[in-house]
Amino acid sequence: MIKKNKIAIIGLGHVGSAVLARAIACQLAPEIVCIDTDEKKAHGEALDASHSTPCTYLPGIKVYSGGFEECKDASIIICSGGPSIIPGEKLDRLILAERNVKVIGDIMAEVTRYTRDAIFIMITNPLDVTTYLAATKFDYPAGKLFGTGTTLETLRFKRILADHYNVDAKDVQGYMLGEHGNSAFPAWSMVNIGGIPVDQLDSYFETKKPLDKDKLAADVVQTAYDVLMSKGWTNTGIAMGACRLAKAVLFNEHCITPVSTPLQGEYGLTDVALSLPSLITENGVQKRLAIHLSDKELKNLHASADSIKAVLKASHL
Ligand code: 2OP
Repeated sequence: MIKKNKIAIIGLGHVGSAVLARAIACQLAPEIVCIDTDEKKAHGEALDASHSTPCTYLPGIKVYSGGFEECKDASIIICSGGPSIIPGEKLDRLILAERNVKVIGDIMAEVTRYTRDAIFIMITNPLDVTTYLAATKFDYPAGKLFGTGTTLETLRFKRILADHYNVDAKDVQGYMLGEHGNSAFPAWSMVNIGGIPVDQLDSYFETKKPLDKDKLAADVVQTAYDVLMSKGWTNTGIAMGACRLAKAVLFNEHCITPVSTPLQGEYGLTDVALSLPSLITENGVQKRLAIHLSDKELKNLHASADSIKAVLKASHL
């Protein structure tokens, strides 16, 4: 029996521990279990985080560590197991495939011994490769398992575009799509601020420079590496993004955000996972929205699919 609102966090490194802190701060669930192959680390993170719970309005919140059997009654599993890129390595998440395909294979084998009922949110990079592996090789029900994908790039896009025009980032509508990584791209044809289409923004809002779409798109991808090169890892943005998705599931929000799932013919694409705008409900991804894309955006989407497929192939997936 699934427990209403029990979250399992797998992998308690920089990302998993940030997800834990954010989930407690957002009072997402009354029960959170931390799972890591390094049991001592999971214990330490859970114990430390439990000391923050008296500050919340969920006084009985339980935070503890345990084994994979704890997944059996979880309503949501958030997985960030496996190593991340480190400064000094090639700045491309796809190089992590060699290490993390094995890590995620092992994690999924364990998780699916206990459940295929929980909504499973993948964070581990290369996100679209691990999502494809987990969603297609372990009989996980379609839609119940998805990757955070370009939800994070979309948050970065909103921040950067809002700063460009000095407006509230919540008023920026639009998505980054495709790979969570270097080939992610903005679907400019859908972007607006407060209903004003992108090509009219310069005439409505004061700005130091006219909008350079290609530069802004490149800045969104680059900003992840700026964080990485400055502090050694990224965790705060992705933790917020993952908790935002968990909340959408727990509250059955029917919100629309791009997440990664295996495509089934959208834009002529199969055998690959990448991010498209998706309707998120208590059942996970209820629907992918194959929105109208311009010719350039379609080309970008296919380029993203090609680079992910090349890594899937090299990884024998
Ligand atoms: C990020 O985009 C590195 O995938 C990680 O923050």
